[in-house]
Amino acid sequence: MENASLNEAAKCLAAAQQLLFLSGAGISAESGVPTFRGKDGLWRNYRAEDLATPEAFARNPALVWEWYNWRKALVAQCQPNAAHFAVVELAKLLPHCLFVTQNVDGLHRAAGLDNVLEMHGNLYRTRCTVCGALEEKREDVTPEVRCTHCGGVPLRPDVVWFGEAIPPTTLKTIYDKLSVADAILVVGTSGTVYPAAGFAVEVRRRGGTVIEINTESPHGHYPRDIFLQGKAGTVLPQLVAQLKSQLQIA
Ligand code: OAD
Repeated sequence: MENASLNEAAKCLAAAQQLLFLSGAGISAESGVPTFRGKDGLWRNYRAEDLATPEAFARNPALVWEWYNWRKALVAQCQPNAAHFAVVELAKLLPHCLFVTQNVDGLHRAAGLDNVLEMHGNLYRTRCTVCGALEEKREDVTPEVRCTHCGGVPLRPDVVWFGEAIPPTTLKTIYDKLSVADAILVVGTSGTVYPAAGFAVEVRRRGGTVIEINTESPHGHYPRDIFLQGKAGTVLPQLVAQLKSQLQIA
């Protein structure tokens, strides 16, 4: 990684009064979790957009649960990687930063980041379609499994599907921060799914700086953006080390 860009990014993080961090599937790629839009992002030739919808669940809940059970089993074998641990360090260095992830894999929490906002929900949580009760279920779920609170069926994954709204309290927390943020650090997301795709746009609109870490270079060029090309598991620890030296922390 080019030192000048790392240095610039660390300077920006150190100077920011209000900050937002946003991660996507790319941050978990090095843990072995497939991304959504990569070449290995398909399951039995279904795209996420074909399965992660209320319509797909209404049509064939067993198929949707099969997909989630497969993802749960896959993620259960994955460990947080160097990028997730670097984010925990960042949280200690930047206590005013709001940490948001689009990932439902729980790996940020597994690394020790307790206060992360999982804006698309969590793979291991179910929500009762009758009473709304939330439960943690690490085991396989089928449409026949009953809610332990009301006995209703079916349970659904407590994730946000295409065409569904992010919980209003979650969005309010994010937009409150965005309305004052002078920088955003975006890691491992293709920026194709809204509203998350709009967060960097909003920071730019207000004259803030967008720092992006991704293996692929971005489509557009924005003069104030700082782009750090590379794997999150390599670049984020370098960024944290640079930030520590700027903040003069050993
Ligand atoms: P995507 O699969 O769309 O994008 C992953 C991004 O990570 C791409 O831009 C890759 O270039 C980048 N990438 C891959 N490996 C990387 C690495 N080691 N280090 C850094 N970057 C890497 O995933 P998301 O943007 O997270 O939503 O997708 C957004 C949402 O679409 C997901 O939360 C999910 C999905 O459908 C819902 O399920 C509602």
